Amino acid sequence: MSSSQNWPCAALARADLADRTTMRVGGRVEWLLEPATPDEFVAAFAACRERGVATRVLGGGANLLVDDGMLGGAVLTTSRMNRLFRAPLDGEVSGALTGEEADLARVAPRDRTTNPRFVAWAGATMPAIVRAASELGWTGLEGLAGVPGNLGGGVAMNAGGRWGDMWDVIERVRVVDPDGGVRDLLRADCTPRYRDGGLGASIVLGAVLAFRVEDSARVKQRVREYLLEKRRIQPVTEWSAGCIFKNPPKETSDGRSAGKLIEDAGCKGLARGDAIVSELHGNFIVNRGAASAADVFTLIEDVRDRVAQKTTVRLETEVKVWR
Ligand code: EPU
Repeated sequence: MSSSQNWPCAALARADLADRTTMRVGGRVEWLLEPATPDEFVAAFAACRERGVATRVLGGGANLLVDDGMLGGAVLTTSRMNRLFRAPLDGEVSGALTGEEADLARVAPRDRTTNPRFVAWAGATMPAIVRAASELGWTGLEGLAGVPGNLGGGVAMNAGGRWGDMWDVIERVRVVDPDGGVRDLLRADCTPRYRDGGLGASIVLGAVLAFRVEDSARVKQRVREYLLEKRRIQPVTEWSAGCIFKNPPKETSDGRSAGKLIEDAGCKGLARGDAIVSELHGNFIVNRGAASAADVFTLIEDVRDRVAQKTTVRLETEVKVWR
């Protein structure tokens, strides 16, 4: 693996991507850029634009299928932007979103009740955010317990489930637009929807998250309950990309979820190579060890076709696919 001094951040040539996704399939990319701060991210993004290099953004890789072979262009990973801060008081937030850590330590209040807010950079992991909030007794994000991935992806796709969504706690988001400009969006100016943060092609650099103050033991108890329930109904310890398909509109499916439709179509246990439809939850495809991206793509189409034959529903994929 060679690296280059020519990028404004750490860079790897011909980097493997499979181990950077939770499904663990797929090939490599010409350049993997690893900015460590939001400012470095913006500089790396600008460098790609100047050089005419196509870019993709990799967060926690929890909702992503990467194709086999070599992807062209550059992947910007936010994994080194894994930072979570107690938010400074209003007016100081802007510097926090670029990362003046020393200043943050100075202004961050120690009292958990006066300012229940975090500043999170795009690479902050969802489990770390959920844990930190529950330690402080801040409520609002327990529903994300057990959701893998990073803040950036969670905000971009409004991650969540039956107990709540990412955007429930968003106060402000900092994004970089396709033209390289950086903007702050307030919650009131955004229209998040089911599994879509509504940010279009803009890339999340960080966000301010606002919680409500509660009792820490009760928040922790809810996190524990949701984690246990998740383990009971989802193959959380296996290699997967989370739910493969979106739930269809209820009126088209008699209210049945994608997982239930897949189960009813007899697809549980259906396998292509080492890719298999989970017996626990029909909307998960699990990599048993040596699945290729081609195995997973074939299985997705097989499942879609079988469900379409049994119903009038053509399931739409929720996972992101890089080809
Ligand atoms: N069901 C079945 N068989 C299955 C799977 C589900 O009968 O194989 C039934 C369940 O018994 C339940 C209903 O279908 O009555 C809904 O299932 P579940 O509660 O598991 O929720 P879901 O709609 O399948 C959603 C999110 C998940 C999130 C869970 C829990 C989508 C596509 N999925 O799943 O998100 O974890 O709620 O909050 O919105 C993801 O985004 O990657 C993901 C897994």
